[in-house]
Amino acid sequence: MSKMTDISWDEFSALSLADKRPYLARPEGDGMPYHTLFAQQFDRELLERLCALANRIRFINKSKEGALYLKNVLAHKRAMLYFSQPSSRTFLSHLAACQILGITTGEVRDAATSSEFKGESREDSIRTFSSYFDMIIMRSPEQGLAEKMAWELSNSSRPIPILNAGSGKDQHPTQALLDIYTLIRSFEKKGGVDGRTVVFCGDLKRGRTVRSLSYLLTNFRDVKQIFVAPDELQVPGDVTAILREKGVKYEVAGDLKAAVKVADAVYMTRIQDEWDNAKGESAKIDTSRFKFGAEELALLGKDGVIMHPLPRRDEIAVCCDRDPRAMYWRQMRNGMWIRAALIASVFGFEKSIMDCGY
Ligand code: NCD
Repeated sequence: MSKMTDISWDEFSALSLADKRPYLARPEGDGMPYHTLFAQQFDRELLERLCALANRIRFINKSKEGALYLKNVLAHKRAMLYFSQPSSRTFLSHLAACQILGITTGEVRDAATSSEFKGESREDSIRTFSSYFDMIIMRSPEQGLAEKMAWELSNSSRPIPILNAGSGKDQHPTQALLDIYTLIRSFEKKGGVDGRTVVFCGDLKRGRTVRSLSYLLTNFRDVKQIFVAPDELQVPGDVTAILREKGVKYEVAGDLKAAVKVADAVYMTRIQDEWDNAKGESAKIDTSRFKFGAEELALLGKDGVIMHPLPRRDEIAVCCDRDPRAMYWRQMRNGMWIRAALIASVFGFEKSIMDCGY
């Protein structure tokens, strides 16, 4: 058993993501994560277990009796939602997931209202939350902060789990889980996710959802990934290096229409201009050919799906919204169920929910 208490921060941070995985797993050995930090913690078996649990929670929640049963599952736990970057869906769906399971929540969404404003470090703030709560769900502009806190807390007297709800430009593991859940449900009765072609389009350089989802897709057989973006915003080398290492087929391309013709799923993303080095930098890039509208819709196969982590600006035309292949609204709601499944699993309630009589 690999334990965070047996390894120094320097040793831990030098490991590859795959080698970090065992340190982040639940000590009970059921394979589920204790700290959820990046997509590399999930293999296919785990993804299928989480999706099955999400389906189960979704079903149980339909009846009042079932919903009350779920509300009791984690009624003895409290979670802190610490979001020091803007968020609508990720914040609200984690909050709703906690409510489904009966978890009481606290929140800090603006560091200006906490002691960080008085000069307290983020590390100290998070350590403070751990005194009052049983889990920290956190979003931060700082890449690696969630990981550092997971190590710190594991080596403290209150070793509570950390759930990464978005770390800088780096990873967004629970978004990737909901994206996979959406793909699995979309292709459930149509032959599954294996063998599909997924097109990523938009700001692939700075979009953390792309990095996490691209990795999760490598758990499926023969899934081809096509990256469509302006040269300045193309997929980073670390993402394609993983694909090469795993023998996954991929293409780096510039023509969205050509990619849509062969796509089973098109994953649109917004330009992440909050990361611009100079003001207005992104606005100088011609992104006009990287938008999904009526013409692209006409080229998409009848079983194809259009996805977006949201928020969107104008990457998907509003005229696509009512098309049955537009999956972005469902994706949002799927996020609540899969996050409830993950949180229940982190606390060791996977089996009891799966086996309950509802
Ligand atoms: C994404 C994010 O924050 O990384 N949004 C989300 O969590 N649904 C994508 C984005 O902001 O563009």
